[in-house]
Amino acid sequence: MTKLRIRGGRPLVGHVPVSGAKNAALPILAASLLAGDGESRLLSVPWLNDVVVMLDLLQTLGVEIETDGANTVYLRAGNLSGCEAPYELVNRMRASVLIMGPLLARLGRARISLPGGCAIGSRPIDLHLKGFTALGADVTVGHGFVEAEAPQLRGAHIYLDYPSVGATENIMMAASLATGTTIIENAAAEPEITNLGMYLNNMGVDIRGCGTDRIEIRGMEHLKGATQTIIPDRIEAATYLMAAIMTQGQVTIGPIDSCYLHSAIAKLREAGADIETGEDQLIVRPAGPLRSIDVQTLPYPGFPTDLQPQLMALLTQAHGASLITETVFENRFLHVPELCRMGAEIKVIERRALVRGPARLTGTTVAATDLRAGAALILAGLVAEGETYVTETYHINRGYVKIVDKLQALGADVEQVPEAD
Ligand code: UD1
Repeated sequence: MTKLRIRGGRPLVGHVPVSGAKNAALPILAASLLAGDGESRLLSVPWLNDVVVMLDLLQTLGVEIETDGANTVYLRAGNLSGCEAPYELVNRMRASVLIMGPLLARLGRARISLPGGCAIGSRPIDLHLKGFTALGADVTVGHGFVEAEAPQLRGAHIYLDYPSVGATENIMMAASLATGTTIIENAAAEPEITNLGMYLNNMGVDIRGCGTDRIEIRGMEHLKGATQTIIPDRIEAATYLMAAIMTQGQVTIGPIDSCYLHSAIAKLREAGADIETGEDQLIVRPAGPLRSIDVQTLPYPGFPTDLQPQLMALLTQAHGASLITETVFENRFLHVPELCRMGAEIKVIERRALVRGPARLTGTTVAATDLRAGAALILAGLVAEGETYVTETYHINRGYVKIVDKLQALGADVEQVPEAD
């Protein structure tokens, strides 16, 4: 086991490369199950722990997988041997639930261990299951598993009570092999959904409206493997953007389409950051003192919940009182006590956090309770006095490719050290 040691106080300088998006790679890997023949070739796949879990899962289902040792993955799903996701894998990664739609469509049956409560909220899958039911599946729950069965799915008109990212993706994949047309209303519009839609299109599905709240899918009888590039990770890019702003650094970040980050860039500019949006990159320059802002997290194109902890770390350095409202997950303030132990002044009342700044942060040992909370603690460590140790870094490795190397290349004093140090 290792932990991160950060010595704060250095401005970040240089260029940081953005990896492929975890949240696009996971559904796209799952969608590879839909291909009855041919090979899929996925480019820019980020080597992250979550991606490895998804590949393990696909392999247990009979998918043949090869990689080029870099970021390309080849998958052949012609001969599937199973339709079940075991507890060990679902427990390691909640996104395992994304195999349910494609398996149900492809084999007529899918059985997955129910995802347990997760650190940032209870995260039910009722909307996924409602979607499968609307497509004609029988859904049953028992013995800790959820099972869906349907000899042939039929297209349907589905309204989502909430624009859930995972439910939209699972329904899109299931509908791809259904007879007739499926319409998803109040669909999630995240760029990762559009990336999945492009892949399904390349596999032969007629799918329209991805990136809007109404997606129309005309299912096909048979789908073939296809080539798809994973889009750059907007959450990773924005995490480095905030690190650069907080340290008064001068950094370019890319490749990244700045359109994916409209809300984050707007709010960071409102807080006083100097951000230029170039072609496929972001440029940050040192600016004056940061100002407090109010922010609420929302589904895309609103401010992403996956950036809320990092923004909170940044706002500890802003002058005045900032109000952060978390509307997407009910328990996503686990980083607050850790930031407070470093000297932040934050009060939480239900789903709102009041951050008073600027706080003088001082290094200590803090625990990463989840992926983005871990990122927030690293950001805080970069501006804290003395040494900050971040433990439980396996959470961070779920979503950030080579974060230590990337920060070191920008001049940060960050090192992986043995847990016992
Ligand atoms: C995805 C992202 C995650 C991000 C989240 C919101 C992946 C692999 N993960 O997660 O990083 O934080 O979107 O942008 O892409 N909900 C229900 N019932 C359901 C499904 C969801 O009530 O059936 C609720 C959840 O509990 C949560 C909210 O809807 O409160 C948003 O969840 P959802 O959009 O589904 O997030 P995920 O797909 O799990």
